[in-house]
Parts: sequence; structure tokens; C-alpha cells
Amino acid sequence: MIEQLIADRSHAIDASGIRRIFGLAATLKDPINLSIGQPDFPVPAPIRSAAINAIDTHKNGYSQSQGDPALLSKVLEWLKHDLNWDCATTTQGKPGQPTAFITSGTSGALHLAFMALLNPGDECIIPDPYFVAYPHLATMCGAKAVTCDTYPDFKLTAKRVEPLITNKTKFVLLNTPSNPCGVVLNTQEAADLRALCKSKGVLLISDEIYDEFVFSDSLNAKAAGDPSLKRCPSPCREEGSHEDTLLIRGFGKTYGCTGWRLGYAAGPAAIIDQMSKLQQYTFVCAPAPLQHGVAECFDVSMQEHVNEYESRRDLVLEKLSPLTEVTNPGGAFYAFIKIPEKLGMTGTQFAEKCIERELLLIPGGAFSSRDTHIRISFATNRERLTKGLDILCELLA
Ligand SMILES: Cc1ncc(COP(=O)(O)O)c(C=O)c1O
Repeated sequence: MIEQLIADRSHAIDASGIRRIFGLAATLKDPINLSIGQPDFPVPAPIRSAAINAIDTHKNGYSQSQGDPALLSKVLEWLKHDLNWDCATTTQGKPGQPTAFITSGTSGALHLAFMALLNPGDECIIPDPYFVAYPHLATMCGAKAVTCDTYPDFKLTAKRVEPLITNKTKFVLLNTPSNPCGVVLNTQEAADLRALCKSKGVLLISDEIYDEFVFSDSLNAKAAGDPSLKRCPSPCREEGSHEDTLLIRGFGKTYGCTGWRLGYAAGPAAIIDQMSKLQQYTFVCAPAPLQHGVAECFDVSMQEHVNEYESRRDLVLEKLSPLTEVTNPGGAFYAFIKIPEKLGMTGTQFAEKCIERELLLIPGGAFSSRDTHIRISFATNRERLTKGLDILCELLA
């Protein structure tokens, strides 16, 4: 009886593959866990203290739907410094002026963007492999996520996207650095994709949740306000991009506070205004006391952690590259590893073999229509990572 009450949209979302892996993993006592997509460092002290202080001083009520004004003004300042975007402080802004608002995580921003933009029957273009939520967010809107095959270098290039654009396409969703591959577009590739979207009249959404986690070999852009500061390439650095690009960024991965659920979206005021209106009736606002915490992040450097992750990335490539194809992760903390054909195994079968050795990782099929790879996360301490890589080397050889 209760079963009959479930909406079709719930049934349209299939999470069985990944649930099976996590079900198997739950039988292990102390596995080497290379499956987790969150940093292994603590939240920096100034950010923690500011959040605790906000709670202790009774800043526990709702914030404005657009976000706490102090955090919002720091985000706007940063967007000016980083991208030369002159954002309005309200969600409406002057004609042509972008704006921004604080969201409940990057997921909250993505969810609101999909809801604000997609009618039933519409299409959006996402990379394959993709972040697990992307296709489902489209399904929830009755729309279709058209996947763009990016194998073997995992770049969502203009050339690959162009043939997929139809009169139903509302937006192209770029994720750089990417999950699950860590691949970073270079400045030219990002500019070309933005130019294509502009010429076709579709929006470009840029999910830059890992923008602070970019390694020295992939930092080839400059901050607008400080050209000596090397930054992650982004389509949002192109002249006039604020008129046709929606930027989504997060605080959770960068500062180790994924559970705080905080991010922001910036771009054309007409879109941000609709997203912010939808936020009012769904998430209401992003977690208010924690917004006071992350307001401190603009004075905190994470460089030491980025360097550590870069050296772990080097270790992953050093150990695994002689055995199989691993595309260089220029950022984030994932590597997408091909299962050598000679093993005759799918990613899922290989992940099951790893579980037998108490090693957890995610089969590529969770992120893709192909199940030919596995994803590991190197956001785990060096000792465990080394042990995990040694097991992988044995199984891949
Ligand atoms: C590419 C990408 N986008 C969005 C998210 C969601 O992040 P948040 O925890 O900020 O909602 C993730 C989380 O893993 C991600 O990898």
C-alpha cells in the first residue's frame, strides 16, 4: 500500500550499484578507505572559533535567504579580486550586473540552478564521467541530462559538446577540477567552451567546488585583482562571462567542513534572483551560525594542505602509472584509474576484489555509463594511502 504512494521520480533514481558496494564494505571492521570524497585535515582554528562564537552569542536564528550580509560582502569582494566580477549586493542588480547568494552547500546551489532552469522535457549537457548527483538532479526536474563522453582525457571540450547542443538544451555543466577524475581544463579550453555556449545561447554552469585544490602544474590563470596570484583556470575569467555563466563554488571541501553545508552561486541576476526565491521555500537559508565561521576563511591559507595533496597525487602517479592508465589529476583529490583490459574485469568486479583485501574504492560505473575504471580518493593519510596503493599495485599487476 505505502509502496504505491512513492512518486515515479523516486523510482527513476537508481542507486543500487553503489549501495551494493557500501553494503559489502559495511562488513569490514577497519578497511583502508580510499572511497571518501572529503578532506582529512581539521577545519582551521579561526573558522571553527568564529562558528563557535556565533553559536555562543546566540546567532542561531535564520539568516537572510541571500545569506548573512557579512559573509556575502566577503564573497563579493573575493569575486571582484579573483574574477573581476562586480556583483550587486541584492539579488536584482542593475541591468547586466551579476550577483551572488549563499547556498546550502554546492549541492544546494546545483539543485536550485536545475530547478530554476529546467522545464520537463528540457535537456542539459553534463560530462561523462560525472559527479554522481548531476543526472539525478535533471531527472528530479523531469528533464534529461545528456552525457558528453570525455574518455580518455576526461576534458569537457567545446568540440565534444557542440554536436550535443539542441534546441532543448538549457545549459552545459562544467566541473573543473573534476570529480571523479581531478582533471582541470586549461585557460584556452575553458574560454572555448564558454565561447561555444555564448554563441549557441545556452548557459554555462561552472561547478568549481575544488577551485582552491589545484596543483602547481595546472595553475595557469591569474587572479584579476592580483596578477601575481596563480589561480585555477575558469570560464568565469573571460571578459563579459558574468552575463552568460553561472559560477558555483563551495566551502566544505576547501576548509574541511563538508558537514556545514555551505557554498555560493554567482552570475546573471535574473537567474540568481529565481534561485534565491526557490531557496526561500526549500532550504530557507544556509546554516546561519556556520556562515559566521566561513566568513573567516578569506584570511586563511590552505596552501600547506594543497602542497600535501599534490605530493600524494605524485605518489599515486608514481606507483600506478607504470601499471595502467591514470590521467593526471591537476586538482581535487581523486584519481580515475583504468582497469587493464588483460584482467578482464569491470570496475565493479575489481572494487569487489579490493573489498576482499579490505580496501575500499568506488567503481567507475557509479560515475559513468562505462564501468572500466575505479576512483580512489587520496584524501587519506599517507600511511594508509601507501598501504592501499600497494594492494592496488598487486591487484593491477
Ligand atoms: C563536483 C562536485 N560538485 C558538488 C558536490 C557537492 O558538494 P557539497 O558538499 O558542497 O554539497 C561535490 C561533492 O562531492 C562534488 O564533487
